[in-house]
Amino acid sequence: MSDKATLEINGQKNEFAIIKGTENELAIDISSLRSASGGAITLDPGYKNTGSCESGITFLDGEKGILRYRGYSIEELAEKADFLEVAYALIFGNLPNAEQLHKFHSDIKTHSVVDDDVKKILDAFPKAAHPMGVLSSLTSALTAFNPSSVNVDSEEDMYNSVVRILGKFPILVAWTMRKKKGLPLYYGDSSLGYVENVLKMMFKQPHEEKYIQNPILVNALDKLLILHADHEQNCSTSTVRIVGSSHAGLFASLSAGISALWGPLHGGANQAVLEMLEAIKEDGGDTKKYMAKAKDKSDPFRLMGFGHRVYKNFDPRAKIIKVAADEVLGDLGIQDPILDIAKGLEQEALKDDYFVKRKLYPNVDFYSGIIYRAMGIPTEMFTVMFALGRLPGWIAQWREMRLRKEPIGRPRQLYIGETERSFIPIKKR
Ligand code: ACO
Repeated sequence: MSDKATLEINGQKNEFAIIKGTENELAIDISSLRSASGGAITLDPGYKNTGSCESGITFLDGEKGILRYRGYSIEELAEKADFLEVAYALIFGNLPNAEQLHKFHSDIKTHSVVDDDVKKILDAFPKAAHPMGVLSSLTSALTAFNPSSVNVDSEEDMYNSVVRILGKFPILVAWTMRKKKGLPLYYGDSSLGYVENVLKMMFKQPHEEKYIQNPILVNALDKLLILHADHEQNCSTSTVRIVGSSHAGLFASLSAGISALWGPLHGGANQAVLEMLEAIKEDGGDTKKYMAKAKDKSDPFRLMGFGHRVYKNFDPRAKIIKVAADEVLGDLGIQDPILDIAKGLEQEALKDDYFVKRKLYPNVDFYSGIIYRAMGIPTEMFTVMFALGRLPGWIAQWREMRLRKEPIGRPRQLYIGETERSFIPIKKR
């Protein structure tokens, strides 16, 4: 096979190098297209065929349902690793040894405080504020309390900024939920593991002397965070990279990523799934009616939690999380009519021509909300939990982008507006 691609524009042939990734993926390097072709660009709305970078963090094959972080399969990581190990591997490239992991965790604990003035900012939000808006604002506000910018040429500086945000972010997550529930804010417990600490910070009640950990919930949350930890160049990650490419700081880039994640077509889907299931229940539980709505092109309704931009056979995360959802509900003895509706929809969609033809399968968010609900997390907090899991991925992608000294992200466009025309004074219009 030739390692060149030829493109003929107006009779002029241009050759472009074909680059192969380590998993034999092919890319046509069109970085010289404009200069070689006299200004032509490629047009690819939604970037469905456009690679924005070379990356060594996450590999996924949507056709085969493969997802690997730094070469480790998601199935193996979900079964054998814990979230902090996965975070370390994503950010720094390899799994940590015992000493590195211990240091990583203890450095994170050292930074597990936020300035008291952040509480005042949180207090100023109305109780009804959406937690994603609050989280994005508080993350951005951290910049004000940590004003020195990261020297990306210093490994030490980079490391310190990583442990700083990994220490502070779970506090913001927990406080956002406590604010929503009207509970007093509570700092963590440095004797606990990362995930146990998150749960305690979120759920410890004022009257409780001791918060008792439920190992089933710890395990389920650990898995959920691992499964959400990275997903290569999705909408929020691309946002983090593009904001960071202007050399805006890490916290500002993360805050932008949180906003991108919020939308129902991305991370907001887990909230949207639960709201959809609730609505179907309220409407009598007729799943067939909603299947028909989802297929009706004149109806904007979509089956939330179904379909994925890259997974066109199955979402490997959904497989793992489905098992975890059954475990959690079984162990907690929860009988949830919402779950029956979810199962009904899934069964119908999997054998429905419309869904099969378009390769629409349940994605990770179809099940994650069911677990969060069983854990007692309010629906509006689901996407915040997703953000907590995605944090190491965003950091890893930001770090990679800065270390590779990538140029500022700045797509081109094809202008389809008016051609030049003269200004007409208002009296004559
Ligand atoms: N329900 C009904 N029809 C759907 C759905 C759905 N959930 N998803 C896609 N389709 C249909 C589209 O109408 C389109 O049909 P057409 O070819 O007849 O026009 C076809 O399937 C392809 O859909 P696109 O929107 O072109 O696919 P795209 O890759 O752009 O979108 C997306 C993927 C956004 C995830 C979409 O499937 C969707 O909206 N799903 C529901 C929201 C959701 O669950 N998002 C979470 C994604 S996972 C995550 O971010 C963690």
